[in-house]
Order: sequence, then C-alpha cells, then structure tokens
Amino acid sequence: MDNDKRFVTGLDVGTENIRAVIASVSKDGALAVVGYNEGKSAGMRKGVPANLAGPAGAIDKMLGEAERMGGYDVRNAYVSINGSSILSTRTEGMIAVGTVEHEISGEDLDRVEDVAVSGRIPANRDVLDVVPLEYALDGQGGIKDPLGMSGARLEMRACVVSALTPNCENLKKATAAADVHADRLVPSVIAAAKAVLTDRQKENGVAVIDMGAATTSIAVYEEGDLQYVGVVPAGSNNVTNDLAIVLAIDPTLAEEIKQRFVTGNFDTEKSPVIKIGREGKDERVFDRKEVEEVVKARLDEIFGEIRKKLKAAKYDQRLPEGIILVGGGAKMRDIDLFAKQSLEAAVKIGTPKGLGGVADAIEKPEFAAAVGLAVLAAEESQYVPVSSKKAKKAFKMPKTPGFLKKLFSKF
Ligand SMILES: Nc1ncnc2c1ncn2[C@@H]1O[C@H](COP(=O)(O)OP(=O)(O)OP(=O)(O)O)[C@@H](O)[C@H]1O
Ligand SMILES: [Mg+2]
Repeated sequence: MDNDKRFVTGLDVGTENIRAVIASVSKDGALAVVGYNEGKSAGMRKGVPANLAGPAGAIDKMLGEAERMGGYDVRNAYVSINGSSILSTRTEGMIAVGTVEHEISGEDLDRVEDVAVSGRIPANRDVLDVVPLEYALDGQGGIKDPLGMSGARLEMRACVVSALTPNCENLKKATAAADVHADRLVPSVIAAAKAVLTDRQKENGVAVIDMGAATTSIAVYEEGDLQYVGVVPAGSNNVTNDLAIVLAIDPTLAEEIKQRFVTGNFDTEKSPVIKIGREGKDERVFDRKEVEEVVKARLDEIFGEIRKKLKAAKYDQRLPEGIILVGGGAKMRDIDLFAKQSLEAAVKIGTPKGLGGVADAIEKPEFAAAVGLAVLAAEESQYVPVSSKKAKKAFKMPKTPGFLKKLFSKF
C-alpha cells in the first residue's frame, strides 16, 4: 500500500439502509472518496440492533461493492449509532492543581474530565463523547483551551453524550461479525453534522435534524461546540405505515404515494385525487385530502417532539443559522417548508460537500452521516484530541471474537 496514504471508512448502520464511504487520506490530511455503497438494512429496530445476524449480513453484503470500488479491504470503521437511548448530559467538574504558578497540563485536563464524567452518567450507559464547553481557572470562566495557562483550581463544564451499553455492545458485535472493527461509535446526527455544517454555523448557533426511517434526531451547536443531542423514536417510515393502514394498501404502494405525490406543503391547491397505475387497467385513485391528513398528522407529531426537545434544551427560536435537514426523510418534497413552519426557524436541506474523488455521487442528504464518519475517522487518527480516552480504549479492543466469526461464517 502507498505509505503516503491512509484509508478510513464511515459506516452508517440505519434501520432501513446501510451506507459506507471509504476515503483515502493524503499526508496533508486531504480526503478523497474512493468507494461508497448503500444497501438495505436488516435486523434493526428504531435504530438499534434487534439481532446480530441481520445487520452483520447487511453490512457484509453492502461493503463488498464499496471495497471493490475502492480497492481496499475494510477492517476498521467509524460506525453510526442511533436510537432513543442517545442523550446529552451537562456536567461540571473541579480539581485543585497546585499553586497559582502551576501550568495546566494534559494530565490536568484528563483529571478534570474524569471528575466531570465519573458518577454523573449511569453505569448502564457508555460515554460516546465528552465535549468540553468551557473551563475556568481560579473562578475565571470563559476559557476554551487552558493548556499551558496558570492557575491553582481548574473547573470544566462539559456536554457528555451517552447511550445504553447493551445497544453499543450489540452494534459492535454486529459489525465485528461482518469482520469490521468499530473503532468508535458516533450518533448518526453528530456524524452528519460533521459533514454538512460550517465552522461559522457552529459558532453562531445551528441545529441538524437527521430524519431517517425509524428515528429523527437533533444535534444543536453553538460557540463551535455540540450543546445538545436527542433522538425521537419515529421517522419517515411511520408516514408510510400510517398511509398503508389508513388507506388499507400495501406498504410498497404507500411508499410510492409518499415519494411521488406527497409534499410538505399542505397549503397549495392541488388536484383533489391521486391516481396511480394505468387508466382503465390497474389504476387506483386516492382522495388527496385523506392522504394529506394522514401525512400531516404524523409530521406534526414528529416535529412537535423535536420542538419539545429544542425547547427543553432552551434553543427554540435561538438558532441564528437555522436548521439543516439530512437523512432519507429530508428527500420528501417541501419538507423544509413544513419544518420551517413547525419549528419557526430557517430550514435548509444539507448535503455533504467539498470532498475529492468520487464524492459527487454521494452529495445527498442520506449520505451525510456516512461521509461525516469518514471525515471524523480521518481527523481523529491524525491527532489525539483532549477527550480521546474512550477512543484510545476502543482502538485496543480485541479483534472479532472467534465464536462470532464462526457463527456468521455463512455471510
Ligand atoms: N424521495 C423521497 N421522498 C420521501 N421520503 C423518502 C424519499 N427517499 C427516501 N425516503 C424515506 O427516507 C427513509 C430512509 O431514510 P434513511 O436511509 O436516512 O433511514 P435510516 O438511516 O435507514 O433510518 P434510521 O436513521 O431511522 O435508523 C425512508 O422512510 C424512506 O421512505
Ligand atoms: Mg439514519
């Protein structure tokens, strides 16, 4: 292999779809997408594994094509995690570091982080990320990077992201069974934010909403940092299922109606009926008002829950850079318009941009998470960030356990 290049992989394991992005990273850190693919998921419920064989088989099948395209055998990846157990907790920690002349070291930062995290997060949760929001030295706050500064008492405010341990473990097992080691688990909306947000947006205040098949998640950024993350256990598939139930039709037909005829703009004049099929042969006619009522009720519910979360985090009507929508659900026509009315904020659809290689083909809202995972993998394997103790631990994890390999050898 070319020694000047490394390869990184982002693996987005969704409820409905699985996506991979393989990128090469040059010595100067530039990323070029060399392989990608998407495929149907299996064995996932509301963003978390319901069994191991389903997602393992789906990952294995989907990765083959991306690997052939990239000419690279994927062994490690940054993997997305989802599900309503994901949440953020605000914590604080304080340590004494010595006399006032003491210069704050990396060890001090690790120690104050330990104090801020330990005992604050329930034992049945895995800490996925610790985002330092602010430090204070001898009571003086507003410090972003205290390394090398002087002080006797160091305080830290942090945003800690966690998920239920069984969900994390099962996801790692499922990827391991497909012979891919999960170097790190990142909530899909946080990964997507990495791919679609600019530094300026993160500084001023912005939210990303990832509307998937079975989940809709939100991440809020301000002052450059993640401030809040939350997941609503409903997504665009709920719209399809509601249509199937109310109209008493097959879910495949309901999906076709959703994709071809439904828009997020319920105020415009449209034809009173929706016609599908060939006239005089297999044509089906549906009452548009009925269809719109079903869709609107579900979207109202999902975006109502998102709004509640924004309010609880004190960010409703406080996002100067507005909201960026990603995920397959963002492909519904005029969904940005609906979100704008519902959340009373400027809304745009987000697509991952600015990567080299064959990236054009994946500049789509549903690829944001997979791209962001690859970008994070490239960044974090270059340097060791302050809050990387978990990541370091993850790198040391054993390779695929033998029994799992045997169990899933059929894939
Ligand atoms: N053109 C479209 N119009 C409306 N909805 C669409 C369109 N294309 C895809 N979708 C919807 O997007 C959803 C799939 O999105 P995505 O692939 O992001 O989900 P996922 O990542 O598998 O799920 P989750 O993130 O909830 O685990 C499906 O519900 C699908 O119906
Ligand atoms: Mg998803």
